[in-house]
This record gives sequence, C-alpha cells and structure tokens, in this order.
Amino acid sequence: MWILALILHALYYISPAYCANAFAVFGGGTPVDFRKTWRGGRILGDGKTWRGLAIGVLAGGLFGLMWYSLSQSGPLSLTYYGAFDFKLTDPFFGLYLGMGALLGDMAASFFKRRLGLERGAPLWGVDQLDHVFGALLFAYFLAPSFITPGEFAALLVLTPTIHLIGNQIAYCCHRKKERW
Ligand code: CTP
Ligand code: MG
Repeated sequence: MWILALILHALYYISPAYCANAFAVFGGGTPVDFRKTWRGGRILGDGKTWRGLAIGVLAGGLFGLMWYSLSQSGPLSLTYYGAFDFKLTDPFFGLYLGMGALLGDMAASFFKRRLGLERGAPLWGVDQLDHVFGALLFAYFLAPSFITPGEFAALLVLTPTIHLIGNQIAYCCHRKKERW
C-alpha cells in the first residue's frame, strides 16, 4: 500500500511535466534557436520550436491548475498517506514543472548537437529523463512542495517506460518522426 501511494503521489506530482513534454509535439514553425549555429552545428536544432515550447508550458500549467483546484476540496484534499499529501498549496506548480521540463529538454538538445547528433537521433537515458530532471530542478527552487527521495527513485524507473509508450502513440499519430 505504501509503495502504491508513493508511486501514485510521484506520478501525480510530475504529471504536468509529462503533459508539457507530450504537448510539445504539437509544435512546429520557427525554431527556438532561429536556425543559428554555434561551432559548426545548430544550437538546438529544428526539433525545438517556440510553438512547441508555448503549447507545452501552457498545457503543463493548465494540468497543474486542474490538480490544484481538484485538491482544494473533495477526495484529493483528504488523501493523505504518511508523507504523501495530495493537497497542493501552489496553483502554479504545473507551470514551474512544465517550464523546467521543456528547458531540460532543450538543454539535452544543446548537448546532443554538441555531440554531433542530428535532430531526432537517440541518446538513451538523456532523451527519456531530460524533462524530469529539468522539471524537478525548477520545482525544487520555485514550488513550495516537493517529492521524497523514494519518489524520485520511482520516477527514474517509471519515466523511461511511460516515455517509450507515449512515443509509440505520438509516432503512430504522426506527431513524431522517430519511435523513441
Ligand atoms: N517539439 C517542439 N518544440 C519543443 C519540443 C518539441 O516543436 N520545444 C516537437 C518537435 O516537432 C520535435 C518533437 O516535438 O521533433 C519531439 O520532441 P523531441 O523528441 O524532444 O525532439 P527531437 O526531434 O528528437 O529532437 P532532439 O534530437 O533535439 O531531441
Ligand atoms: Mg527525440
């Protein structure tokens, strides 16, 4: 029961970051780096666009706002398993997680381009976890509530699996060029 509460609370907390990352695939148009290059390679590449960033951050923010309002009264406000309190205190936590997720994703693209990897080329581990690290880093400094080390460990294991399943869906819906 305790492990289930841990997993549920961790996924509940990180969900705006997943949401931001998933909705970014509806991006397109002008790249964030305006096609500028640095040291012979693109700064970020065509896979990071302003529209994707805006849609993703908005989606994460709204998703967080939804959890926040649901947690103010009703069952979620009463759900409390030891350290796992489902009542949220900050309506903007989803915004921080969403921004962090997509900045983490951009940092990873910057790193990939420096390694000489083309847009969409896989970098296992980094592709699956960049948004979680970015989101948690932002939330750690900006949001009043945070997750426990145990929840963090659970997210490191669960996220790559969820990410891969999500990518199969995005690929099948022609929202992504690669299956990973
Ligand atoms: N996307 C976007 N803007 C963002 C993030 C993502 O438009 N800020 C869209 C792009 O169409 C991108 C797709 O979502 O191709 C999938 O994102 P991701 O896998 O992170 O990008 P990649 O194309 O794999 O590029 P990279 O190699 O830089 O990670
Ligand atoms: Mg990718």
